[in-house]
Amino acid sequence: MNFLEKRIQKDGRILSDNTLKVDQFFNHQIDPQLMKKVGQSFADYFKNDQITKILTIESSGIAPALMTGLYLNVPVIFARKHKSVIQKNNIYTANVYSFTKKTNNTISVNKDFINSNDRILMIDDFLANGSAISGMIDIISKANANIGGAGVAIEKKFQKGHQYIQKNGIKFLALASIASLDNGKIAFAHSK
Ligand code: G4P
Ligand code: NA
Ligand code: NA
Repeated sequence: MNFLEKRIQKDGRILSDNTLKVDQFFNHQIDPQLMKKVGQSFADYFKNDQITKILTIESSGIAPALMTGLYLNVPVIFARKHKSVIQKNNIYTANVYSFTKKTNNTISVNKDFINSNDRILMIDDFLANGSAISGMIDIISKANANIGGAGVAIEKKFQKGHQYIQKNGIKFLALASIASLDNGKIAFAHSK
């Protein structure tokens, strides 16, 4: 097990057969040392991919994205879920359906921050069904920018997101890969 899998084993909690709670160290209370390692791991994996910017979605993607941006020495953009009142026209938008919450969210990014010269690394906390990644891809293509890769801290391999990313031929790294949360047990996939 790597550092993140060990921490998940120790402090993660299973909420249901498909939901893992990591708010003790990742997305509510945050362990900065752990998050540094997350950023270092992504940066190391994508260091030769000419990444110019990181893209994530608020709020839980920001911490891992920021640490990755620190190590790759590139800016970090987070897509907003609520439209800024100041920026109404100068934005790229995409629809993100949440399977967990059964809601539709419009995410948006200011047009000034992504252009056709960019090679974007998408970063997020969880990969479940891939709708967050799909929304980010939508924004990147509207900006005529290039996809440099995708990194997620925790993927739930039994949901659809992993296949979606593979199918699109995107260079991909999951730091912790979960094969199953069945019967109150966290089973890691150890594929990557
Ligand atoms: P998807 O993007 O891969 O399709 O995921 P989905 O719509 O199913 O997930 C909706 C929200 O729930 C996302 O956060 C996602 O990060 C989070 N999520 C998915 N699976 C898990 C899980 O097993 N555990 C936890 N803790 N979160 C999960 P969000 O709505 O964008 O919220 P936030 O980033 O503001 O926290
Ligand atoms: Na998220
Ligand atoms: Na979340």
